[in-house]
Amino acid sequence: MPDAAATPPAVRPRVLSGIQPTADSYHLGNYLGAVRNWADLQSVQPDGTSYEPFFFIADQHAITVEQDPKVLRRRTLVAAAQLLAAGVDPERSAIFLQSHLPEHAQLGWVMQCLTSFGEARRMTQFKDKSAKGGEGSSSVGLFAYPMLMAADILLYRPAYVPVGEDQRQHLELTRDLAQRFNSRYKKTFRLPEPYILKETAKIYDLQEPTAKMSKSASSPNGLIDMLDDPTVSAKKIRSAVTDSEAEVRFDEVAKPGVSNLLRIFSALSGVSIEKLEADYAGKGYGVFKSDLADVVVDVVTPFRARTHELLDDRTELDGVLARGAERARAVASKTLADVYDRVGFVPPFTV
Ligand code: TYM
Repeated sequence: MPDAAATPPAVRPRVLSGIQPTADSYHLGNYLGAVRNWADLQSVQPDGTSYEPFFFIADQHAITVEQDPKVLRRRTLVAAAQLLAAGVDPERSAIFLQSHLPEHAQLGWVMQCLTSFGEARRMTQFKDKSAKGGEGSSSVGLFAYPMLMAADILLYRPAYVPVGEDQRQHLELTRDLAQRFNSRYKKTFRLPEPYILKETAKIYDLQEPTAKMSKSASSPNGLIDMLDDPTVSAKKIRSAVTDSEAEVRFDEVAKPGVSNLLRIFSALSGVSIEKLEADYAGKGYGVFKSDLADVVVDVVTPFRARTHELLDDRTELDGVLARGAERARAVASKTLADVYDRVGFVPPFTV
């Protein structure tokens, strides 16, 4: 970090991302595909860039499908605590809950009015999520979800949005909507770039290594929950599906299971995939998986302890969320005011 006193304050490009509080724990895909990168983006980057980061818990997105209110409230706080446990630092990042900023829903409405039905219908996540219960019984909120996500992003005019591969299509819609708004009214939004790291863009299910690791996986054994008992996670790694070759080699087509484990191992340990292949040459899968299980345990054990500590005494967490909302509001309210002016709303009267 450069000496703050010696560096003149500069306008820093922003980064922004969000995560839904729809499970009792983040899974390893959320952690490696998104949250861990958020923590990394807080430091000065190798090219000297320093970002201003905003990260939030997307509780309003969660209610696009039915939620038990008690469970949602608990999971929202668990999600926020996990951000801190993953190294997102409230001194450097604004950490907040989406529902604390009405500006998200307010800009979301404007975004809905810019989006055509056809465009919304093409969103693959809507197709996937509505397929289960049928489109007719899905909520309008689920259909409008990508427009709320566009609002989440555009309110902060970020340069980058760090996400996993499954969010790319939503980012494309966000850019289209930003461009449409800019050309219909006046240049207001910066077009955000997705920030998707190739190595961790898609972590796969341990039992079904051609499907994305996801909370809606068919078997719980395919998923590593960051807050699970570490011995359970170690066992899941040791019983991950591989192949009959017994050769630790990266080949996503022929060896999806081993390749997924190699990606996870490399991302968690910082050792390159090539070096791991060389280290485990001729050793078979047993040793490889057992060493990876140890690496996973080393990461999740302190993560879990820190999350519980933050939840046991909420003073720190509540303060972080209050200050984060304040920092976010300073930016979001200004953007919303610009938008309302540009679309032709009369500013509020004062008495
Ligand atoms: P969500 O809550 O489903 O997931 C949070 C983040 O985790 C990433 N991710 C994965 N990455 C790699 N491999 C996997 N198997 C994997 N599974 C999940 C996701 O890509 C995501 O980055 N719509 C968003 C939340 C959101 C948002 C936003 C994100 C709402 N508003 C604004 C960015 C900006 C979502 O449902 O993510």
